[in-house]
Amino acid sequence: MTLVQRWTQLLRTRTVAFFSTICAIAVIAVSCAGGGTQASVGIAPEMVADYIHTVMQADRTAYTKHVVSRVAKLEGKDNEKGVLAIEATEGWQQTDGIPLPAQMFRLGADIASESGSAFTYNLISPWYINDSHEPKSEFEKAAMDATIETGESYKDYQEVGGQQYFSALYPDKAVAEACVTCHNTHPIHLERYPDKEFVMGEVMGGIMINIPLDAA
Ligand code: HEC
Repeated sequence: MTLVQRWTQLLRTRTVAFFSTICAIAVIAVSCAGGGTQASVGIAPEMVADYIHTVMQADRTAYTKHVVSRVAKLEGKDNEKGVLAIEATEGWQQTDGIPLPAQMFRLGADIASESGSAFTYNLISPWYINDSHEPKSEFEKAAMDATIETGESYKDYQEVGGQQYFSALYPDKAVAEACVTCHNTHPIHLERYPDKEFVMGEVMGGIMINIPLDAA
């Protein structure tokens, strides 16, 4: 190989290395720009609500199926399948019992709001035992009717006190025998809704999630 040939080869290798480096930087820049764009777009509020709901519903079902269903007494009444000598009762703090699923849900919601989380969630039902669960706003009423009719979630934007929200109501279904037996025999239920007898799988109410949206 002549000296000129060797120089030419060296130059060619260097040039290839140089261009590879430039290309690598370009790829990183493009992928970074892509990431940046995604971050500014964010996750759709529908998806955020779905994620939050999946976790809450799973915890609620697990607590009812694997804890509440195993207790000997459900709000004063014997539970045939109960294996634990305790009671699930509204007065759990006074009686050494354990909280009802709706109370457990509220305990979690209270802790979440203490942590300063931007969104809120709560239970509602047209067959409410606890007055604070009555569907109150026009949005809640419309969402509850639609959810009972379709068995599906109801989602929309709404404005409350000048603040925009994405709100979603998910059906709260009778996923365990304990849900229906306890509600159907509860004195307040019997007094208020004597003709309403829940069956397994039925929509008993809804889980409302409100996500505040940025003005931007
Ligand atoms: C041992 C009794 C008991 C069991 C089991 C039970 N509930 Fe309840 N539930 C209640 C009582 C009592 C309330 C109201 C108490 C409160 O909110 O403090 C309530 C509240 C609710 C509410 C809000 C509306 C209302 O009635 O105030 C919904 C919806 C609901 N329950 C659905 C369910 C579902 C679904 C299950 C099963 C996953 C279930 N419940 C299991 C007794 C029970």
